Amino acid sequence: MARPQSRYVCQTCGEAFIRWEGQCRACGGWNSLVETVVREPTAGERARGRARVVAGTGGAEPTPLNQIGEAAVPRLQVGIDELDRVLGGGLVAGSLVLLGGEPGIGKSTLLLQAAAGIAEGSGPRADGSADGRVLYATGEESTGQVRLRAARLGLLTGPAGERIDVVAESTVERIVELATKRPPAVVVVDSIQTATVDELDGPAGSVGQVRESTLRLMELAKGEGVAVVLVGHVTKDGSIAGPKTLEHLVDAVLNLEGERYAALRVLRATKNRFGSTDEVGVFEMVEAGLREVDDPSRAFLVEHERPAPGSVVAPTLEGSRPLLVEVQALVAPSGYGTPARRGSGIDPNRLALLVAVLGRRAGIGLGSHDVYVNLAGGLAVDEPGLDLPLALALASSLRDVAVDPRTVAIGEVGLLGELRGVGGLERRLREAARLGFARAIVPRSGRAAPSEPIAGLGIVAAATLREAVDAALGGASTGHGEAPSGDARLTARAEPIVGSGGRASRRGSD
Ligand code: TYD
Ligand code: MG
Repeated sequence: MARPQSRYVCQTCGEAFIRWEGQCRACGGWNSLVETVVREPTAGERARGRARVVAGTGGAEPTPLNQIGEAAVPRLQVGIDELDRVLGGGLVAGSLVLLGGEPGIGKSTLLLQAAAGIAEGSGPRADGSADGRVLYATGEESTGQVRLRAARLGLLTGPAGERIDVVAESTVERIVELATKRPPAVVVVDSIQTATVDELDGPAGSVGQVRESTLRLMELAKGEGVAVVLVGHVTKDGSIAGPKTLEHLVDAVLNLEGERYAALRVLRATKNRFGSTDEVGVFEMVEAGLREVDDPSRAFLVEHERPAPGSVVAPTLEGSRPLLVEVQALVAPSGYGTPARRGSGIDPNRLALLVAVLGRRAGIGLGSHDVYVNLAGGLAVDEPGLDLPLALALASSLRDVAVDPRTVAIGEVGLLGELRGVGGLERRLREAARLGFARAIVPRSGRAAPSEPIAGLGIVAAATLREAVDAALGGASTGHGEAPSGDARLTARAEPIVGSGGRASRRGSD
């Protein structure tokens, strides 16, 4: 039974109940009751109180826009450039940051390293009040385990060893008490799914507990001016476990992505009230923790011994930062049943669409083939410009003809097989040229086409997917006089490199 202070509130209609029930008796919604603390002040009073803290004006009088003083945003540099950049220039005092990521991706490692950076005082103090200490509350691990990690990271000695206070605590009241008694510069709560408040009966990780814990920690952040960083686990579908409202409550949401068994990690801000969400940070997980990658635009490229069919390099743009990424595709005759279309790091709907457009508009029929695509290094990219390199990688794999490894391709593919421009083309191409690429296949219709030639880079402007495929795979040699049927063009391409009698190109398009 709920304690007197808690009620089960329907998230759909707002009706409150004393006990949990599967269905709300007021509106009939299923599974909509969430345990909630009944607070003394009314919701309105609380909201006003909070607004005052946030705005820092002490009153609710409206001020003309041009008379609002410039808010001083004291930032605390973490000393890890890639992290500071994603934060928008450092941790903001009094802010609440959520760091999400799959288990084992390196969240605790990153935060311990960040804590060490703060302890070492690699940047200016927030406002002089905080003494550069960090309170690291762990509900996931024992202090002994944290010590082990710190030892691995070489952080036991020096300022980090002295100024990071570790406590194995998941009760929010206790964490808040510790942080209020002696305000540190930063509080780390690892993780929000293990945090609980005493008034609620629900288990750690339940919607009610996660939300209430976050609210209390927000009050701590705003009230004491300390930056609070929460670790949040990510569920299978990629969202941070717990209510969506969690992401609305916090000031910034950072996500650490990558493949657990690969070394590269990308840190992205999906929300940031104090900076842009465009920046990404690139790290590599090594023996001694997460290391910043020196030349990130090169990090996701794979060195091949010789040109590999199915591989195309795409000059993607993550915010303001160009990243060259290798798109890999494997096309294989499918057995019985529906052909597989699998992709990691890309949108599966986009993949299905490209397979259809390739078949209908470019004569590359994949109807009886399984299709697998992958971005090297475990990166996930969702920009439409990835369409063209993906399509070319598929065509290259089907024909078993390698695209020249010094070629890059970028562009969105429309349903009619037309190519559409992408933003920041010039920046992407300059980066490609810098890394030694010699040719770029780009949409002809780009508004942002390079104003002047880029040294060392030949540019092929293609209007359609078919033109781009010809440019990439040398389609012209198959003869333009032939019927534009996928089959004719495919069988005209000879020489499977890995011979197999049952090469399915003949089975052709659907
Ligand atoms: P961890 O930070 O515990 O992940 P999370 O908090 O996101 O669950 O680290 C995950 C993995 O990182 C762990 O399996 C081992 C590896 N690792 C290293 O490779 N080098 C290191 O120095 C550390 C501390 C961890
Ligand atoms: Mg952890």
